[in-house]
Amino acid sequence: MKILSIETSCDETGISLLECSGGVKNPTFKVLANALSSQAKLHSPYGGVYPNLAKREHIKNLPILLEKISKKTKLKKPDVIAVTSGPGLEPALWTGIVFAQELYKKWNVPVVPVNHMEGHIISPFGSVKGNFKIPKINFPAISLLVSGGHTELILIKDWMDYKLIGETLDDAAGEAFDKVARMMELPYPGGPEISKIAEERRTLLLKKLGSATARARGIFQQENIRVFQEQGPEISLPRPMLKSKNYDFSFSGLKTAVLYLIKKINSTNELGKLDEKTKSKIALEFENAIVETLVYKTKKAMEEYKSSTLIIAGGVASNTHLKRVMKKELGKKINILLPGKGLATDNSIMIGMVGYMKYLKKGGKFGNPKNIKAEGGLRL
Ligand code: KG4
Ligand code: ZN
Repeated sequence: MKILSIETSCDETGISLLECSGGVKNPTFKVLANALSSQAKLHSPYGGVYPNLAKREHIKNLPILLEKISKKTKLKKPDVIAVTSGPGLEPALWTGIVFAQELYKKWNVPVVPVNHMEGHIISPFGSVKGNFKIPKINFPAISLLVSGGHTELILIKDWMDYKLIGETLDDAAGEAFDKVARMMELPYPGGPEISKIAEERRTLLLKKLGSATARARGIFQQENIRVFQEQGPEISLPRPMLKSKNYDFSFSGLKTAVLYLIKKINSTNELGKLDEKTKSKIALEFENAIVETLVYKTKKAMEEYKSSTLIIAGGVASNTHLKRVMKKELGKKINILLPGKGLATDNSIMIGMVGYMKYLKKGGKFGNPKNIKAEGGLRL
């Protein structure tokens, strides 16, 4: 069965064609074609995604990408269409939904609405080319979803059976990275930029101080939060919500702490700009703070729910330090699954995968797609 999948929830326009086979327990996929157009550069001057610009670009790109896919695969008509219906930016989501509705008029094939977050959860099993399948994993699994719009801990009882156990009360982790990057005049998206300079400084300090001292000061890897608080790093930022008993996060206070810190530094700086060294110090401490919080709560959830499988997904899942500390803290017994190249950030392959599983689960029964609505705040 051929599934044409469409993704437009944020600033990436994606269309893929997947050949899908197998049942709910053993779905198998082959990528026939995959097209993605990123708008990141266009949104860069705004320091974040500008919804109306995203909408305009999706409308422009969707027919171009479809043409590309159709040409490559000589596609006449797919068997099913899968489209992201939420969560995300509603003006952006609508462009994909309306496009799918138009294609339905032409092809009269079922249209499966897909939850974007479910796509991220399944993304570690995908690939941008070739064949892949969804293997058997041990349930319950825990998923840490960290993107520009979400920071969630999800209990996965089985595929398509999820429970949200914790989430951010304000900013998402990726959003905090982007906003702090903007404060330091680093380009959008800020996550990779902050991570790059933080990692450079970490390596430098490690060389200078030696690993034992650096570790004790919490510079390389935070193993003991108490030691960290006693000794303090070069610049100190809070670790929000570590003491709360639930699995929720909060990054807005951390972001504000960076703002005050920059203002404090700038008052003695005539140009009002940060030098490169200060930027890298802030980046390092900020990244450590985010990573420690994410790792601490994830570890707690893994223990409470006796889970041995962790899926980390969403754009922030590509953060080197997060992956490193998570592996170290959770130990060898935990199976950590991460999306491969091109699957961590938004893409349409993951939407096609979920689309197929949902299609199978519902026995192919999907009504007229005119009822599909964009739901910016759609929950799992
Ligand atoms: O999942 P995604 O592509 O889009 C959303 O659905 O939001 O995630 C994008 C987010 C951005 O905030 C970006 O700064 C962040 O992921 N990001 C990173 C890294 N790569 C992307 N954050 C930290 N470290 C990275 N290496
Ligand atoms: Zn996403």
